[in-house]
Amino acid sequence: MGENNHNHNHKEQKLSFYDKSNKPFSSSSSSSQCSFTAIIVLLIFLSYLLYSFSFISFINPYSPSLIPNSLLVPVIRLGSGQAPEEKTDIKHIVFGIAASSDLWKHRREYVKTWWKPNGEMNGAVWLDKPVNDSVSSSSLPEIKISSDTSSFKYRYRNGHRSAIRITRIVSETVRMLNGTESERNVRWVVMGDDDTVFFTENLVRVLRKYDHKQFYYIGAPSESHLQNLHQFSYGMAYGGGGFAISYPLAKVLEKMQDRCIERYSDLYGSDDRIHACVAELGVPLTREVGFHQFDVYGNLMGLLSVHPQAPIVSIHHLDVADPIFPNTNRVKALKRLMNAAKLDSASLVQQSICYDTTRQWTISVSWGYTVQITRTYMPARMMEMPTRTFNDWHKRHDYTNVAFNTRPITYTDCQRPRVFYNSFVVKSSSSDTTISEYLRYKEWYPTCDWGIPDPSDINRIFVYKKVNPDRWNKARRRDCCRLMPTTKKGTMVINVTACANDEIVAYSDK
Ligand SMILES: *[C@@H]1O[C@H](CO)[C@@H](O)[C@H](O)[C@H]1NC(C)=O
Ligand SMILES: *[C@@H]1O[C@H](CO)[C@@H](O)[C@H](O)[C@H]1NC(C)=O
Ligand SMILES: *[C@@H]1O[C@H](CO)[C@@H](O)[C@H](O)[C@H]1NC(C)=O
Repeated sequence: MGENNHNHNHKEQKLSFYDKSNKPFSSSSSSSQCSFTAIIVLLIFLSYLLYSFSFISFINPYSPSLIPNSLLVPVIRLGSGQAPEEKTDIKHIVFGIAASSDLWKHRREYVKTWWKPNGEMNGAVWLDKPVNDSVSSSSLPEIKISSDTSSFKYRYRNGHRSAIRITRIVSETVRMLNGTESERNVRWVVMGDDDTVFFTENLVRVLRKYDHKQFYYIGAPSESHLQNLHQFSYGMAYGGGGFAISYPLAKVLEKMQDRCIERYSDLYGSDDRIHACVAELGVPLTREVGFHQFDVYGNLMGLLSVHPQAPIVSIHHLDVADPIFPNTNRVKALKRLMNAAKLDSASLVQQSICYDTTRQWTISVSWGYTVQITRTYMPARMMEMPTRTFNDWHKRHDYTNVAFNTRPITYTDCQRPRVFYNSFVVKSSSSDTTISEYLRYKEWYPTCDWGIPDPSDINRIFVYKKVNPDRWNKARRRDCCRLMPTTKKGTMVINVTACANDEIVAYSDK
């Protein structure tokens, strides 16, 4: 969206005026052209002058070092205007992680899966009381103890007062940064819970689109329609999915938040208090669908296998949902997804759809996560709907309670998909192609008398894919996958690439 506004990259700024004549800036080409002519005239004049003093025999008039700096400076200013701003990066983000001392020992394992230590990331974990120091470690954010909130009113029946402590992390972060060296760098305050996992490269990709000098409140509502409709709001960024507040907004919020939350003592949580106060400031939610509150129970496979065409920013409720890979624990499963994220974060869980026309199969790839094979040809418009592998926030299998389209996992016994889960991803050091392996999850399957080959004949799938860090700088489009020939029994090889210009995902109806 706003991407292009920020794309004046640094390199152009550093070009000498020689290069600039070949690459005029679109907005100021005439003035730079003009000043270029001026400098040429000046140069000729200068060399003539130097010549007459017999200096020319030992200096090259076209060496930039010859020209005094005082002559160059005004030319560069004329050509490029203000220095283009550095692109937003991880160093411009300060995280505020809401945690509790009682659960920290367990939940910190989630934070470890995404936090990069040694000063690469900034921020703190906010606890209610000190924990044994043996529990903290160098691979985790600094621990802060939230200030006392006992004087604030909290009137929600059967709620938790800790909501007040947690909602104030934004303000406490601003106060923590006040006047420090870090404050000069900070552009965004990003809030998350201790059971939120961020894909930080994608978080950066999303925040880069927005002007951090303005007021922004960025996140996503819940998957649960009833949660959004009744207790909370479609206009609220849910705290577990994480949200970003631009620093100027965070500073204004800090000024008013303590008085504001007294006006909302009958709200339940911390994120609805943020929403209430940001709403008083008139700032709406900027919805980014990559933030996932995941107010669902059970198996996330259906959701994660068909992610919207947007970078995945976060996942949440990791203690509530099953491990995202079967036959392993939650933390190990996350680490496996993180391995894929490290190699091609922009494409993580992005879908591609193709057909095996010799066997009448539909193949759906969720890069770095799953491949699914389904008997018969299923159209793209159906395959791009998540399957209902999960339960809603009331532990019911009620698809009318999620705020997006879903479809049943299968319509007939024959069409039950075979699911292959990612086992590893590698990238050769010499090329930018990744190879990921997916192994079939062995479940019992009903028999099928349609005379279509059984996808369970395949046990292992290899996916080739070129890394594509720039995909979100362009118009969104699904990748295409193509089957590659292989003679190895039980193995399928797939090449995932950007679709050709006129490429379509369709089966021929013979
Ligand atoms: C902190 O750790 C020490 C040493 O491991 C232990 O003796 C002590 O009981 C712990 N305290 C708390 C509050 O867990
Ligand atoms: C920041 O520090 C200055 C100087 O100590 C102080 O006057 C100001 O109130 C502080 N602002 C915040 C938001 O803490
Ligand atoms: C995958 O397809 C692309 C585009 O057709 C091609 O350039 C690339 O070589 C293919 N990769 C492999 C491993 O065959």
